[in-house]
Amino acid sequence: MGVEGEVDLERELIDLLAVESFEPSEAFRARALLSDPAVYEEAAADPEAWWLRQATELLDWIETPSQGLDESDPPFYRWFADGRLNASANCLDRHVEAGRGDRVAFHWCGEEGEERDVTYTELLADVQRFANALRDRGIGKGDVVGIYLPMIPAVVVAMLACARIGAIHNVVFGGFAAEAVRGRMEFSHAKALVTVDGARRRGGTAPIKARVDAAMGAVDSIETIFVVRHTGAECEMRAGRDVWFEEAMAAAAPECPPEPMAAEDPLFILYTSGSTAKPKGILHTTGGYLTGVACTHRYVFDLRPDEDVYWCAADVGWVTGHSYIVYGPLINGATSVIYEGAPDYPECNAWWEIVERFGVTILYTAPTAIRACMKWGAHHPARHDLSSLRLLGSVGEPINPKAWLWYHKVIGGGRCPIVDTWWQTETGQIMLSPLPGIDAAKPGSVMLPLPGIDAAVFDENGEPVEGREGLLVLRRPWPGMLRTLYREEERFVETYFSRFGPQTYLVGDAARRDADGCFWVLGRVDDVIIVSGHRLSTAEVESAIVSHPKVAEAAVIGQSDEQTGQAICAFVTLEGDHEGSEEMIAELRDHVAERIGKLVRPKRVIWSGDLPKTRSGKIMRRLLRDIAEGRELGDVTTLRDPAVMEGLERKIAARRDEEG
Ligand code: PRX
Repeated sequence: MGVEGEVDLERELIDLLAVESFEPSEAFRARALLSDPAVYEEAAADPEAWWLRQATELLDWIETPSQGLDESDPPFYRWFADGRLNASANCLDRHVEAGRGDRVAFHWCGEEGEERDVTYTELLADVQRFANALRDRGIGKGDVVGIYLPMIPAVVVAMLACARIGAIHNVVFGGFAAEAVRGRMEFSHAKALVTVDGARRRGGTAPIKARVDAAMGAVDSIETIFVVRHTGAECEMRAGRDVWFEEAMAAAAPECPPEPMAAEDPLFILYTSGSTAKPKGILHTTGGYLTGVACTHRYVFDLRPDEDVYWCAADVGWVTGHSYIVYGPLINGATSVIYEGAPDYPECNAWWEIVERFGVTILYTAPTAIRACMKWGAHHPARHDLSSLRLLGSVGEPINPKAWLWYHKVIGGGRCPIVDTWWQTETGQIMLSPLPGIDAAKPGSVMLPLPGIDAAVFDENGEPVEGREGLLVLRRPWPGMLRTLYREEERFVETYFSRFGPQTYLVGDAARRDADGCFWVLGRVDDVIIVSGHRLSTAEVESAIVSHPKVAEAAVIGQSDEQTGQAICAFVTLEGDHEGSEEMIAELRDHVAERIGKLVRPKRVIWSGDLPKTRSGKIMRRLLRDIAEGRELGDVTTLRDPAVMEGLERKIAARRDEEG
């Protein structure tokens, strides 16, 4: 596509902005798994029975549950409590036993164009061996195993091997620094860690094991570190603690029967950001979580496992990867793509080349990736045949209508329904989304609660509001919900179930319902920000900045950003007579990268002699957000020193001029 083409496209997108909603095509509707709106009423009439039916239809149980929800001790809800099952058996054995063992579970694409197909039979063999390797190192039911790996097949093997023996996996996103891994291993008392010699990114490599060693020295609970060979990087192996993943597997017995687990036994912990510096260990259990992800993966993506090639382009280190790369697709017997690399490496067409090569039919990604592709230009996808695509998904942050339309038009060729799916690490499963064979989609709206889900928008007093902004809440328990925060029960109750009582889950997002009852999610209402689809805590970034010896104080806010949705803006006061300079900004950014990870580096640093504080010394982040966004300042009367704001406003204006 040339410049002229881009101009025409721009015009077309502007015209499309006037279209309020997009109906699925008759052709799509005719073949969809769900096309009768009665499903909503059926589930609403008896949600518990509806979920129990999903659980028994979609999963294989060792002991079939006789009950749905147990709400005898709110907010500690239990689902399918008398059932027993094993997650890895549901993902693997059942398909092999049914004669589908030769089906490809994953087409793995390496960053340098390598390809490896992993069938269900092969995956089952590897999982059993690694499960035995874990057992050989004394790991069993209830032990926590950390996983810090790039997007390579071993990550799925490690997760499912834990599930097979009832160990609880705790995956840490590969983009986080080793220091962040250490904290998460400490909080969870992890007994082992699975990591890699090195990782590849955009043609370079990073020495992961060496970094882990530097950070992990202090974690006493870690008895074993399994190291996957990937880049061939030299690494030191500490005798008695470190073992090569491949060698441990080769030495292990080939068969490992799945451990029967109670439905409410923990499956995994996944740390996510909250409003304080300490991440929250979201705990998911087995039967309810698997029911939730199996059901939503099947019906939201309208999955036909015999025909579809499904690709969720997220990282397995986030909940999206857990639910919609690993558990949902494998339970449903899908064939998926796993891609190790970045969308712009070696060129900006990397994703579209993969879609064409494997005939991907369903693509699930985040708005930030779509906006990046828009910026690189429609000529990259135009080089490839994307006609295999039949459904597109979006997740992680609000999608702006223009990006929605670009996705619809340029990637989906105008024929693919888009499911904008709202959910969280805590919810485990998709909660709000159109059902693609039933509902129309309005660009920017997550549309409706799925069958069996009850969402509402509340005002401050807990009254439902329509047509204006309020707090998004979930009024009825659902199977995939978090059960608690690992080792922080009080924080669990306080964070989610204190505002409106133990029956009502407080989401932490602002939302609006329109006259048709459709939901529009507007963003977070706490100190959580979402940068390029990554959920971060401003407090965690502040604490990393303040740990720099030259920093006296820092306040971090999320600022709207066209590319990344939100960007990190840090207001920093230096100690004594240290000067704020460009070099100092670079030093701070490196420091934050080392403490948490590169993705958390502040985009903007504003030097401030003082920060706006109340008389009791609390930093007023609301005012910082106002000036950073160029808004009229809110109430400043509670400030100890109102003159602070004038100084900051001048600095922001100067910064804007510098940045052009
Ligand atoms: O603010 C919402 C936003 O992402 C938050 C959850 O982040 P996390 O736990 O990391 O999970 C992300 C992947 C499920 C939510 O509180 N969010 C997620 N999906 C959407 C969204 N905001 C708007 N539209 C969405 N589709």
